[in-house]
Amino acid sequence: MALIELDHVTTIFGRDDKAALAKVKAGMGKVELLEQTGHTLGLHDVSMDIEAGEIFVVMGLSGSGKSTLVRHINRLIDPTGGEVRIDGENILALSPKALIDLRRRRIAMVFQRFGLLPHRRVLDNIAYGLEIRGVARKEREATARDWLGRVGLEGYEASYPGALSGGMQQRVGLARALASDTDIILMDEAFSALDPLIRSELQDELVRLQRATGKTVVFITHDLDEALRLADRIAILKDGQLVQLGTPNDILLRPADAYVEAFVRDVNRARALTVDTLKQPPALRITEETIAEALAVMRQTRTEVGYVIEDGRYTGVVTRASLEEAGASTATAASLSEPQPGIAADMPIETALPTLLDAQHPVAIVNGSGELTGIVHQKDVSDVLNPGRGAVAPPEDERPAT
Ligand SMILES: Nc1ncnc2c1ncn2[C@@H]1O[C@H](COP(=O)(O)OP(=O)(O)O)[C@@H](O)[C@H]1O
Ligand SMILES: [Mg+2]
Repeated sequence: MALIELDHVTTIFGRDDKAALAKVKAGMGKVELLEQTGHTLGLHDVSMDIEAGEIFVVMGLSGSGKSTLVRHINRLIDPTGGEVRIDGENILALSPKALIDLRRRRIAMVFQRFGLLPHRRVLDNIAYGLEIRGVARKEREATARDWLGRVGLEGYEASYPGALSGGMQQRVGLARALASDTDIILMDEAFSALDPLIRSELQDELVRLQRATGKTVVFITHDLDEALRLADRIAILKDGQLVQLGTPNDILLRPADAYVEAFVRDVNRARALTVDTLKQPPALRITEETIAEALAVMRQTRTEVGYVIEDGRYTGVVTRASLEEAGASTATAASLSEPQPGIAADMPIETALPTLLDAQHPVAIVNGSGELTGIVHQKDVSDVLNPGRGAVAPPEDERPAT
């Protein structure tokens, strides 16, 4: 069971939302609904599962329903139709007390405008979530001090928010959310007001801290680059509808429609895609074979390069040419191994590019234990980085404004 489930959620803003819902169910779209009834379709039949421990990004143009969606998770808004569940429990049916508990113990928020209390010191801001839960001063201050350090704000505990830059204030916002000891953090355009450089620092920080804590982060953004940097999975909304849900690689490699395609077009693919997208099974593993044995297999399978495995770890390559030169011998093929560095599956292609360009042969993908998990053929790199060369571009007016 997923941690957070949206089940056929439709949300309509206006006086008689139930009557409007009937019209939407009968097929009326957002524009027509607004024109004919003055009601706004915020979300339209959205279903999705958010798993515990992932960074789940919701992306879309302004007005696509992102804020509406995230506000359902802590019930700042109730949907007109459908259900929202946390741990399988329909939160629309919670008692007022249970709802307060959910908001205090399960969910923390980071706001675009930081939302700090101006007359409280940084330390007291960070401790705030624990304070409203009744945690004793000593304990909450110790926790807050710990988080202050972990977000890089040592020495600022007695400062007031107004004395800090925007980036530092948002570090306080992040520390407050993390210190609150909830398992879910909601972030609505939390970095959108920050300068690009500061913003990318905080993105890295968020990923690092999320990995360290295992918390579930639901992050809203209108910026695909930000989504790609942060997300385990991305949901893309358009006019209140879910148009695609997938990993960053899914979105980049297989955009569901012209709307997603237009977002994807200007992305730096070398930075956004990982080596994993280029992975092919290794053609030939060389372990204990003699030169003669290895040569026989290579001739039979028409392979030019073998990947040498010693004690389970990838150590280098042997070429058919070098085996032929050595001639039939009982020496091991591995003794003719030439070193060629491997790369990791989760590396951005950009990071692996120097190794890929330098190597004489397809490059080994190795995991954390040094095991060979696949190879990358250099010829695939340009295909993945320049998809659809020569394809017809969608018309200009279907591209999202940026
Ligand atoms: N309180 C509200 N009253 C009326 N319409 C609203 C309200 N909140 C959002 N909307 C409308 O719902 C749609 C989705 O809005 P929102 O979720 O804020 O989009 P986003 O966060 O993606 O910019 C928009 O058309 C917006 O105008
Ligand atoms: Mg919004």
